[in-house]
Amino acid sequence: MENAPTTALVTGANKGIGKEIARQLAAAGVHVLLAARDAERGRKAVAELNADEAAADVRLLVLDVTDPDGVARAAAEVDRLDILVNNAGMMADGSTAPDAELDAFRRTFETNVFGVLTVTNAFLPALRRSPAPRIVNISSGTGSLAWSADPAREFALAAGSGAAYRSSKTALNALTLFYAQTLAPEGFKVNALAPGLRRTDLNALAAASDGDPAEAAAGAVRLALLPDDGPTGAFLSWDGTPVPW
Ligand SMILES: NC(=O)c1ccc[n+]([C@@H]2O[C@H](COP(=O)([O-])OP(=O)(O)OC[C@H]3O[C@@H](n4cnc5c(N)ncnc54)[C@H](OP(=O)(O)O)[C@@H]3O)[C@@H](O)[C@H]2O)c1
Repeated sequence: MENAPTTALVTGANKGIGKEIARQLAAAGVHVLLAARDAERGRKAVAELNADEAAADVRLLVLDVTDPDGVARAAAEVDRLDILVNNAGMMADGSTAPDAELDAFRRTFETNVFGVLTVTNAFLPALRRSPAPRIVNISSGTGSLAWSADPAREFALAAGSGAAYRSSKTALNALTLFYAQTLAPEGFKVNALAPGLRRTDLNALAAASDGDPAEAAAGAVRLALLPDDGPTGAFLSWDGTPVPW
């Protein structure tokens, strides 16, 4: 088992930052399970990565993180997993808390928080079969309460906007720490990444930015391939610098 190829699962990997994480892991020689909730979108991304990267070994896993039965079925297909990247995420709207619609809040937490819990717990048996299990949670600097409270930061100037998304990432940070603490005795490394603003379909601000998703992906890959003396229970920026909780 020790000699089996390193296997990684990346959720929401049919586009955006997740696809770049899958691409870079494949380029590093990792066998990648590219998870997508839509089979057709997933197949397209798998074909692209296998064509682009010499020796890429990318396979599709259809997985909607909000569907516990489907996640359990997907997990049953995987014997051993070395790396889990919880990347799938969404932003329903940019409302402040007083203006928020409860349903938008619920849908955001369903994907960004409960989805991570569902996927992580379903794949824990497979991760426990790895000699060096790694979990990377794609969070956001906007989930940092310290940064949100800092008047010098643009998030503070945004005065509580994106309350559902940002509080979901704060909750994800808490989960990251608790998983790290609980699983440390078993050799797991569990960390959260703040990818920085990247040009993706996440929201209008991201779509209009010139941030390269591949640069953020490199930060995630560094955490996915951490050596045994690497950090756990950390919240790190894409460039490896610590982000305050
Ligand atoms: N872009 C930024 O500036 C930025 C900044 C901070 C943090 N992030 C975080 O980075 C991660 C990736 O986002 P992105 O910017 O790459 O956005 P994106 O291009 O919109 O990609 C999001 C991915 O998540 C998938 N997804 C959404 N809900 C899902 C579900 N229920 N089950 C499975 N997959 C689901 C999407 O699939 P479909 O194609 O089927 O919708 C898509 O593949 C997210 O966690 C996001 O919060 C991004």
